[in-house]
Amino acid sequence: MKHDIKDIRLAGAGKKRILWADIDMPVLALVRKRFSAEKPLRGLRMSACLHITAETANLARTLKAGGADVVLCASNPLSTQDDVAASLVKDFHVPVFAIKGENHRTYYRHIVAALDHSPHVTMDDGADLVSMIHTRYRKLARQILGSMEETTTGVIRLRALEKQGALRIPVIAVNDAQIKYLFDNRYGTGQSTIDGIIRATGVLLAGKRVVVAGYGWCGRGVAMRARGMGASVIVTEVNPLKALEATMDGFIVMPMADAAKIGELFVTLTGDTSVIDARHLREMKDGAIVANSGHFNVEINIPALKKMSRKVVRVRNSVDEYTLRNGRRIFLLAEGRLVNLAAAEGHPASVMDMSFATQALTTEYCVRNKGKLGVKVHKVPDKVGDWVARLKLKTMGIRIDTLTGEQKKYLTSWELGT
Ligand code: NAI
Repeated sequence: MKHDIKDIRLAGAGKKRILWADIDMPVLALVRKRFSAEKPLRGLRMSACLHITAETANLARTLKAGGADVVLCASNPLSTQDDVAASLVKDFHVPVFAIKGENHRTYYRHIVAALDHSPHVTMDDGADLVSMIHTRYRKLARQILGSMEETTTGVIRLRALEKQGALRIPVIAVNDAQIKYLFDNRYGTGQSTIDGIIRATGVLLAGKRVVVAGYGWCGRGVAMRARGMGASVIVTEVNPLKALEATMDGFIVMPMADAAKIGELFVTLTGDTSVIDARHLREMKDGAIVANSGHFNVEINIPALKKMSRKVVRVRNSVDEYTLRNGRRIFLLAEGRLVNLAAAEGHPASVMDMSFATQALTTEYCVRNKGKLGVKVHKVPDKVGDWVARLKLKTMGIRIDTLTGEQKKYLTSWELGT
């Protein structure tokens, strides 16, 4: 079995980590049990470009239990858990092409290795496989039944392809399902981003002035959790509705140019580029900490930061000290890559349980609708989200009410008023 990982001897630790995450993934475990019995993915070749974490390992186990022949590559050079990669290869016989810290060339070599598997279905976190299928691997497009996309930035890229009329395969925007973004983006990113910052720096959040750039699903989560730990939180936005929402949620809203002068810890979660630019970096206080939790490492203008600096020193794991020509120091976390995955372990398993159960069921939906999905960006079927939510509640021991016949009628009629 071909693979490219750091060290197979790490498998023991990786297996423990995978099984530990599995305890908090009961919905995915139920999908896996059914898949094992029914084998709905029999004969399917799959390539998945995801963060190689313990939770992803449990998704891969589930797809394999369903009969799929799965290979994995990383969706970020810094997010791979090398021990998990080793266990996937040794204990679960899933080929993995991913090494934490891999350079640009190796990253793309691994993507190519995953596509050499000649997949019928692909799964992306950031649209790197799909993007390759639209450039170097165009011949694969004909055989792709569907491709799932896990994150906001990936969906933005897919919609751009669709808008240009250049999309060649059916894609499903898993990120845009409520069952995904309401929980994974908000509570998952909220908690794990704070976790990454604390693991990297050890700073006390209480009393710290934290600037959160972007008040989307991820930004809301981080702002909420930072406030919960006693930080005074400033939000920057470009969307007037979101800015208003942040204001009425009780946060101070201002442009980055103003926030840069007073912030102590900055986190970007916009999916945009150069949100923290040279003009902002120049204004920051000595000792400012800057981190990104958006998908790509372009939210902070790192080339500009390098140019402005006279010295760069790695002072801790995941912390680089940039000394600017004006003498001030800026601490950049995790090289500006997703801080929650690069400096911590990504989202907690309990939240990935919902996202990955949705991914597995959407894969099954692609197979059951072979040849019927048009070439466009599709939604996850509503019944998938409902099913996952109901089961999640059940596994949490939470019961809810059901509509009476009278209520069902009332809610679908127009005749009854005051
Ligand atoms: P979203 O679309 O809900 O929110 C993004 C927000 O940023 C929007 O409100 C937008 O108006 C704002 N924005 C755009 N440009 C801005 C600028 N220049 N200044 C200030 N605000 C700006 O997106 P979501 O779901 O919150 O995702 C944000 C990013 O995080 C994406 O790149 C996504 O792929 C990534 N992501 C990261 C995760 C992680 O594990 N760290 C998990 C899920 C998503």
